Amino acid sequence: MEDDKVNSRDKARIAIMELANMISVPMSLNAVVRLNVPDAIWQGGANTPLSAAQILSLVLPSGGGDAENLQRVLRMLTSYGVFTEHLEDSSSSERKYSLTDIGKTLVTDADGLSYGPYVLQHHQDALMGAWSLVHEAVLDPTTEPFVKANGEPAYSYYGKKPEMNGLMQKAMAGVSVPFMKNVLNSYNGFEGVNKLVDVGGSAGDCLRMILQKHPTVKEAINFDLPEVVAKAPHIPGVIHVGGDMFKSIPAADAIFMKWILTTWTDDECKLIMENCYKALPVGGKLIACEPVLPKESDDSHRTRALLEGDIFVMTIYRAKGKHRTEEEFKQLGLSAGFPHFRAFYFHDFHTVLEFQK
Ligand SMILES: C[S@@+](CC[C@H](N)C(=O)[O-])C[C@H]1O[C@@H](n2cnc3c(N)ncnc32)[C@H](O)[C@@H]1O
Repeated sequence: MEDDKVNSRDKARIAIMELANMISVPMSLNAVVRLNVPDAIWQGGANTPLSAAQILSLVLPSGGGDAENLQRVLRMLTSYGVFTEHLEDSSSSERKYSLTDIGKTLVTDADGLSYGPYVLQHHQDALMGAWSLVHEAVLDPTTEPFVKANGEPAYSYYGKKPEMNGLMQKAMAGVSVPFMKNVLNSYNGFEGVNKLVDVGGSAGDCLRMILQKHPTVKEAINFDLPEVVAKAPHIPGVIHVGGDMFKSIPAADAIFMKWILTTWTDDECKLIMENCYKALPVGGKLIACEPVLPKESDDSHRTRALLEGDIFVMTIYRAKGKHRTEEEFKQLGLSAGFPHFRAFYFHDFHTVLEFQK
């Protein structure tokens, strides 16, 4: 009995040591993306196990770097399922690494996209400065930790820094394109839509994919902040319009938005949704793709990714912006005037939420 107690206390102590050192995980992930390790191992699909020294010679062709330190990073990330470690034989100390399915999400695809920019975007200096202030969001939710660290809200801060703006767009595209492929295979809510607006559409990747799948959409407006659309690429059939969704939203048969409501407070969401309501005809739909929290607080990857994202929103964007449950979204829709609501779970992170006027 006493032995069991000692055993469970030891387990608790090792678990708290793991949590206390957890920062090593995302920062090492950031390091391997910065060093282009996933692309170096992937080599156009080879994914041949390579030693740290071999990887270094690929990412630093002119030489240099410390292979032992790279191996330390790769070993730790192996434990989190990013790499597979290959030991030549039990007597050899040489370790080689290939990419797991998780590691492969960081490989740049034919369109230049991956989850790598999302990792980089989350670990820029300006964001890192906010993380030591998470407790401040509890003490004083009127000012975001990001604002306390950097003196202004995240979106206006990005807007003044072209490299941050560019990275944000790449990060969004890297995550949104695979999600949209999944949604467009399963969801038929765009059928019959003639004019569509994407509110907060960033570089316009979601609209581009919707148009490819639904050529019946004849008018497509990518609506985002003026400094964001100024950097958006030309996409045939898409008109980029700069503006502020808190003031007004261009009129359309249907409105799409992805990853927008999450970063705002309930009152701000209500205002955005009321502007959507005004821009839609009777029967028109607001199709919002947002993270939706489960009721249970379990330890699944899905629940953890959603709860971690919730703290990210609180720290970086809006101390009272948040990931919401399906019921909270339904109530937000009702408060903005939308009588009909449906939720479609095609994807583990983003849920399609239909609000109909
Ligand atoms: C998390 S990103 C989502 C981007 C894109 N919808 C996606 O999921 O890939 C939020 C977007 O909202 C835009 N945004 C922020 N404030 C806005 C405003 N007041 N009016 C219009 N767009 C805004 C940002 O510039 C950014 O592109």
